[in-house]
Amino acid sequence: MMGVVEFVSYQPVKRGHFPGVGFSLGIVLVAIVAILSGTDPLMAAAVAGKCGTCHTMHNSQNNAALVHAGTGAKWTAGSLTGGSSTDPQSYLLTTDCVGCHSNSAADTIITVSGARIPIVFNSVVPTNPLAGGNFYWVATAGGNDTTKGHNVRGISAADSNLAGPPGPPGAGCEPCHTTLTAAPVKPGGFAFVMNGGCEACHVARHHAPGSGSVVVGKDDGWFRFLGSTMEMAATNSNKTNAGVTGIEDPDWEQTSAANKHNVYKGTVNVYMSGGMGSGLADSAVGQVCVGCHQTFHRYMTDAGQYLITGSWIRHPADVVMPDADDFRGTPPTSTPAYNPIAPVAKQAIVAGDQNTPTVALGSDVVMCLSCHRPHGSPYPDMLRWDYRNDCKAWEGDGLHPNCGCLVCHTAKDDIL
Ligand code: HEC
Ligand code: HEC
Ligand code: HEC
Ligand code: HEC
Ligand code: HEC
Ligand code: HEC
Ligand code: HEC
Repeated sequence: MMGVVEFVSYQPVKRGHFPGVGFSLGIVLVAIVAILSGTDPLMAAAVAGKCGTCHTMHNSQNNAALVHAGTGAKWTAGSLTGGSSTDPQSYLLTTDCVGCHSNSAADTIITVSGARIPIVFNSVVPTNPLAGGNFYWVATAGGNDTTKGHNVRGISAADSNLAGPPGPPGAGCEPCHTTLTAAPVKPGGFAFVMNGGCEACHVARHHAPGSGSVVVGKDDGWFRFLGSTMEMAATNSNKTNAGVTGIEDPDWEQTSAANKHNVYKGTVNVYMSGGMGSGLADSAVGQVCVGCHQTFHRYMTDAGQYLITGSWIRHPADVVMPDADDFRGTPPTSTPAYNPIAPVAKQAIVAGDQNTPTVALGSDVVMCLSCHRPHGSPYPDMLRWDYRNDCKAWEGDGLHPNCGCLVCHTAKDDIL
């Protein structure tokens, strides 16, 4: 990518107008990428902006260290501030994962010298949290409630209730399979340092070409950089063969609607375990979760997940939404509206599936992210709605006035 000039802009463009139907303005990604031999010219680059925003050649400016990293590092009005460390970072970066993705104000997308940065940790209550939620509620320097998100190094202390992930795969390999707050370690049998923290789930590939509205795969750095961290740990290569596919909403669902959202990959296959990324064999986003919370799913074989009577012993995940009255919505239809408060996943994603406004009953599946935000939320167990109280979600956004459970179980809405 060196020496390449890029210009990426997002322009609202008027879409075709259908008679009698009020049609909203669409967002069309216009990407002009200069001279990228071998690369689709319509693809946007994953990162844009000046090298110096994100990299420092000597970690020195006027003979003072430039890096802001570690707990407390964040963007404040366009500059990196705070942090417990000024040590040089890998890839000559000016900060670490947490620092670059944190903001002292409430905005969840910021632009610094042309770089458009998605924020996952705000120092104050975030205005429009992105699809993965926000670490504000779990952070020691934020809401400080360990039940409301994953406790991650640089953001919060270890969970006060949980010594490890509920429903682990057995082995307690540090740091990922114990606590995501642990310092990097080099487990026995592995030749490489394992970072944990954000990198327990993400394999960063910031210079991989982005995907626009097509299905992201290996060459694009996988959906939201969800490559196999197990494979990365074993091979030390960030171009992992296993990873999650999907279609990425261009503003990370900062705004979302039935016809504007991510498209998630699910599966109905029984998960396999052959180690080193085989856990992601179907490229489904729920398989990332199940790597650390294995028994919360129909793990390996169906045995143990059903009672002999045929009922589930845990809420099903990666199971088809039945084309039955209980799920058909009000008034009943065989294609109820898609609701980003309780998203479903597709077993196979093809071009044209972006922003699909309906749920395909009999085909789409319920998954871990139907009910949970992977980073954190205002609610216990990082749920997408307030299950303990009135079940409502993201107060004030008007997306769903009722309980998130009822987005799918539509026939039960006479209860609340
Ligand atoms: C918006 C932030 C950002 C900008 C701007 C940026 N980089 Fe990076 N770069 C990163 C991050 C984060 C990594 C960490 C490794 C990864 O994610 O692959 C990285 C990694 C790298 C690497 C090593 C890994 C690789 O993919 O080869 C090189 C070399 C590099 N950047 C060069 C550049 C150059 C040259 C520029 C300017 C043309 C630039 N970067 C602009 C964020 C940025
Ligand atoms: C437990 C696994 C996990 C951990 C730990 C984790 N992430 Fe994520 N992250 C995800 C998943 C899954 C998504 C996709 C969410 C979606 O699209 O619904 C995501 C999405 C993102 C996005 C895109 C914005 C969004 O909300 O969709 C960014 C940026 C990001 N993560 C950065 C980070 C950083 C920085 C850290 C560490 C502070 C981190 N993540 C820790 C699983 C994780
Ligand atoms: C110096 C700044 C910087 C650092 C350091 C950095 N990121 Fe990012 N990251 C960015 C920017 C800018 C983007 C937005 C790229 C885009 O427009 O798709 C991004 C995007 C992401 C995404 C979303 C990718 C997608 O598909 O939209 C994830 C996940 C992520 N980063 C994780 C990480 C992790 C994990 C680390 C540490 C290994 C890290 N980042 C370090 C600047 C940074
Ligand atoms: C960098 C974080 C990380 C480290 C270190 C790590 N794991 Fe994992 N593990 C994961 C994630 C994430 C998944 C699910 C996604 C995947 O398979 O890559 C997973 C999945 C698994 C699975 C089930 C699926 C599969 O791929 O077989 C087993 C078993 C497992 N890990 C055992 C271990 C053992 C044993 C160690 C130590 C030798 C270890 N892990 C080290 C993050 C990690
Ligand atoms: C790399 C391992 C790892 C992966 C992958 C992972 N988790 Fe976790 N999870 C943990 C650990 C460790 C804990 C316990 C400590 C904590 O809360 O951070 C935990 C706790 C939780 C909790 C309870 C939170 C609380 O504090 O009560 C929920 C809910 C959860 N995870 C959901 C998910 C979902 C959904 C995914 C997939 C997006 C996922 N996890 C992926 C390691 C993981
Ligand atoms: C239908 C909604 C739903 C789905 C789907 C779902 N969960 Fe949950 N999860 C919940 C609720 C609600 C709780 C709170 C505890 C309870 O009510 O049992 C919870 C609690 C948890 C906990 C905390 C358990 C503890 O001991 O504190 C973890 C971990 C977790 N879920 C992981 C997952 C994973 C991994 C998946 C996907 C395989 C998943 N969940 C799918 C609704 C769901
Ligand atoms: C994204 C859609 C979705 C959401 C959200 C959802 N469910 Fe479900 N639920 C399903 C599907 C699919 C099934 C399996 C139905 C089947 O195969 O008969 C199911 C089954 C169930 C069952 C019956 C299990 C059995 O033994 O047959 C209960 C009880 C249930 N859900 C409760 C809840 C509760 C409580 C919530 C909110 C915390 C919730 N669900 C949220 C999709 C969802």
